[in-house]
Amino acid sequence: MKKFYLTTPIYYVNDLPHLGHAYTTILADVIKRFKMLQGYEVYLLTGTDEHGQKIEKSAEKMGLSPKQLADRVVDRYKALWKTFNISYDKFIRTTDEYHILGVQKIFQRVFENKDIYEGEYRGYYCISCEFYLPETAQEGPEGTRICPDCGKRCNQIAEKCFYFRLSAYQEKLLQFYEQHPDFIVPESRFNEVKAFVKAGLRDLSISRASVKWGIPVPFAPEQTIYVWFDALSNYITAVNYLEEDERFKKFWPADLHIMAKDILRFHAVYWPAFLMAAGLTPPRQELIHGWWLKDDRKMSKSAGNVLDPAILLEYFSADAIRYFLVREAAIGNDGNFSHEGFLTRINADLSNDWGNLVSRALAMTAKYFQNRIPEKIELREREKMLEQSFFRMQPEVIRYFESYQFNRGLEIVFDYINQLNRYIVEAEPWNLARLPEKRAYLAGVLASVVEAIANVNSLLWPIMPVACEKVAAAIGQKQFSLEWQKIKLPLQIQELDILFPRIEQSEFFALEQKREQEADNLIEIDDFKKIELVAAEVLEASRVENAEKLLQLKIDLGDQVRYIIAGIAQFYKPEELIGKKIVVLKNLKPAKIRGLLSQGMLLAAADSQNRPFVAFLPQETPNGARLK
Ligand code: MSP
Repeated sequence: MKKFYLTTPIYYVNDLPHLGHAYTTILADVIKRFKMLQGYEVYLLTGTDEHGQKIEKSAEKMGLSPKQLADRVVDRYKALWKTFNISYDKFIRTTDEYHILGVQKIFQRVFENKDIYEGEYRGYYCISCEFYLPETAQEGPEGTRICPDCGKRCNQIAEKCFYFRLSAYQEKLLQFYEQHPDFIVPESRFNEVKAFVKAGLRDLSISRASVKWGIPVPFAPEQTIYVWFDALSNYITAVNYLEEDERFKKFWPADLHIMAKDILRFHAVYWPAFLMAAGLTPPRQELIHGWWLKDDRKMSKSAGNVLDPAILLEYFSADAIRYFLVREAAIGNDGNFSHEGFLTRINADLSNDWGNLVSRALAMTAKYFQNRIPEKIELREREKMLEQSFFRMQPEVIRYFESYQFNRGLEIVFDYINQLNRYIVEAEPWNLARLPEKRAYLAGVLASVVEAIANVNSLLWPIMPVACEKVAAAIGQKQFSLEWQKIKLPLQIQELDILFPRIEQSEFFALEQKREQEADNLIEIDDFKKIELVAAEVLEASRVENAEKLLQLKIDLGDQVRYIIAGIAQFYKPEELIGKKIVVLKNLKPAKIRGLLSQGMLLAAADSQNRPFVAFLPQETPNGARLK
């Protein structure tokens, strides 16, 4: 079996996953499943990029070690990938031992090949973006320079470091690009890369004395290896570069690296150069997609406009979100996310067109044949046409999918789905069902539709695995395949829930608003800590004169005795309370009630009629014990 090794970027752990990260990973999973249908043995790698100053700093702010921070974020990534049904084969972390040793190995090898040398680096360094600014960076106040990426002021630093002889690779890279015209897709991105390399390459500083949280240079352990050298190497360390065994030989070079345009240069220029310097083959292809924008800006934590996939997942299935992202984004372009656009797309394509087709076909089978399409079928020209137009449509879809133009491929699949919907309207099975002599033909009509559904189902499976597996189970489809599948008659249909429930815009926005309000109501733990709730023993209790609702309680708070007034006299007798342990809000400002001082407040639950239920604590609770 031919292998296909594909990768996502490894994500930084100073950021929680958002829809942008999910998009790349979903795209990778869609490609994986499509390649599986084409008969490849596919290996999908994803993971996290955990070293570097940015992560060290974020962890410090949170009072965690970098590894602790990474562990937390890794859990979040893994959980999200599970929810989105990402069938990755390996999750690599750059803090994994085999990765660290593998990075040191490739660093050592490049050094031995004389493409790493020692020098001193002086430059303006952007701590946020973790790079030295280009010469052209604009001057800022007080001798600083402005980072062209993030706009922050940067200071000049000087440090001993190792350099990678990137300048020696200019010609080799250009030659490599020439020989591999499909190396970068889409072509417009490839042109950017070529122009960049043609403009000249300077040696690259690839170690840092100033960064502590990183992989030590094997022969100069006071230095750490530049995060991008470390990170990019994950693609080889994940497939046993350390041992360089059979497995490595089988999987390397990778068939496809997937990423957004922000990290193009690292992957298209530095990475092949590093590999060449280590005597290894560059990857076969890199797919560069655009950004998901929100309000026309790149979704990113620093811009504060990230879309949390968890929110969409509260209302929509993972399949629906996967479909939307893949259907809506044209690989070369940026995509603007709007809830309106999202709902319109999901409702139209999934609920109306595909969902309806499936549920109609199944419902009619249930109704007219008690869930069982009989053996004998009669086919006319029109039914045969369905099969023929599938054969016309499918190769075109495959061509688009192969070139990662899923949006265009899906457009054609949905044209076909609509053709099936129109066919049902024209064939009028409900009228055929009234005529006993048309029974065989009716079976033919329904069998043809179900058969077409099964074959469309295979094309949709890479994008919507869960829903397609449900459809398959309902119609007895054993496997997904790009070969035309005949359905076996008689066919016993199983029940199927609504695949994609329709959610109206108004309904969605009402839910959204409610959720936002709830989020506004949330408090931080520190807010709660301000409230001092303690256990207190009731020493004395008596009615307050001329106030039928009030009791005065003398309570022991452990370190002091106080009086409080409680509005529970209609429901509790004084003697019911004496000796009991209650909960008191201790740091409430004292108030005078009916001329009596109340130094705190008793806690009770209240029902809708305001009847109080006093919170009693176990008798052994020490007086003054804090509730937290
Ligand atoms: N750690 C580096 C990558 C090292 S790979 C050897 C990194 N990490 S990242 O967490 O910032 O992830 C960047 C990648 O996440 C992008 O290339 C892209 O795949 C994905 N995306 C992050 N934000 C995105 C959007 N707003 N839109 C689309 N993809 C986005 O860079």
